Amino acid sequence: MPTELKASKYRCPKCGSGDFAITTTRWTCGSCGQAYACSAGIPKLFLDETLGAQDRKLRDTLYDGLFGRLYQVTMPAIVMPVRPLSMSWPYWSAFAVVWVVLLGLVAAVVRAATSPHGLVLGMISLAVLVLIALFLAKQRYLLHLLWVAVPAWLSLARRPFSPAESFPQVHERVLAPLRAAGRRLQVLDVSTGSCNSLYRHGWMSLDADYTAIDLSETMLKQGSDMMSDAGVPVDLVLGDAMALPFQDGQFDVVTSYGAVNGLTDPPKAIAEMARVAKPGGVLLFLDEQMYSDPTPVERAYFMRVLSAHNVIHRCPVEAFPPELTDVRVSQVYQFYYICTARKAGG
Ligand SMILES: C[S@@+](CC[C@H](N)C(=O)[O-])C[C@H]1O[C@@H](n2cnc3c(N)ncnc32)[C@H](O)[C@@H]1O
Repeated sequence: MPTELKASKYRCPKCGSGDFAITTTRWTCGSCGQAYACSAGIPKLFLDETLGAQDRKLRDTLYDGLFGRLYQVTMPAIVMPVRPLSMSWPYWSAFAVVWVVLLGLVAAVVRAATSPHGLVLGMISLAVLVLIALFLAKQRYLLHLLWVAVPAWLSLARRPFSPAESFPQVHERVLAPLRAAGRRLQVLDVSTGSCNSLYRHGWMSLDADYTAIDLSETMLKQGSDMMSDAGVPVDLVLGDAMALPFQDGQFDVVTSYGAVNGLTDPPKAIAEMARVAKPGGVLLFLDEQMYSDPTPVERAYFMRVLSAHNVIHRCPVEAFPPELTDVRVSQVYQFYYICTARKAGG
């Protein structure tokens, strides 16, 4: 039986209306009639034809592909040079195995070419090497990770970095007043992916309702599984960060981790985050940005691996909308910033 959802936090991406007729499989805008599919309780509130080229490309080739399906493994592997060995040793072990296999294949080819023995093994090895080369030609960041991971790790290990304000300190600065707010808060996580960051970085300590949005079904499915395993109720939405399907001024807190720099139009996404924040609401987002003193090999790792899919490589403060005040950008790690800001008013 269809139900009416009026004056909700949601809005139709096509006409902006907040009236929806809702069934388990479909949300239909009461104003313009646009229908949006809904599956497993997750509405798909975006119009495919309005997606930016970069967002469509990353969704189709990365997040809905192998990288997204294996996200719990692929992401830690990419960041292993910046993580402590105690956390990243399984990935370094796998990395060593990859190198041993590659060198073994090359050795088999060389042996077949230079002696009368091992011709069949040499041919098979050559075929496997060609397939690997074709794969790496498409996944260039993995090709670069192969050569730059160890030099980057050695370089970073030689020069410890101490931030003026650390990752936990930035979070505590934002979270402490929110915990003391004395009312139930509304929290939105944009580009939530597997909901990992939303779950892990202190937001669960708030008295809050959670909403999380992402463009990739593959990623959001992992978020849905994780939050239901953790027993945390969350409203999940498939949608575009640059056209958030929410009414103005709905959220006390808007967060985003590891996404802003890679979107088609980062300033537009930040303007959208500001639009859906309540007056006086807080924005906190993290993404890649190089610290002031990188070595050439660290720069290569940053540009060719960590930030390879991004359209910008630092926090775009100069393009913030004027309603954002108290803007602070903290370089929390060698390659990551956190930006915090407050929406004027409230
Ligand atoms: C590197 S992942 C980060 C995921 C998560 N926030 C975390 O910290 O693990 C980037 C996420 O941005 C999402 N994304 C990319 N383009 C988007 C868009 N236009 N709108 C919403 N999400 C988008 C991807 O699907 C992916 O889940």
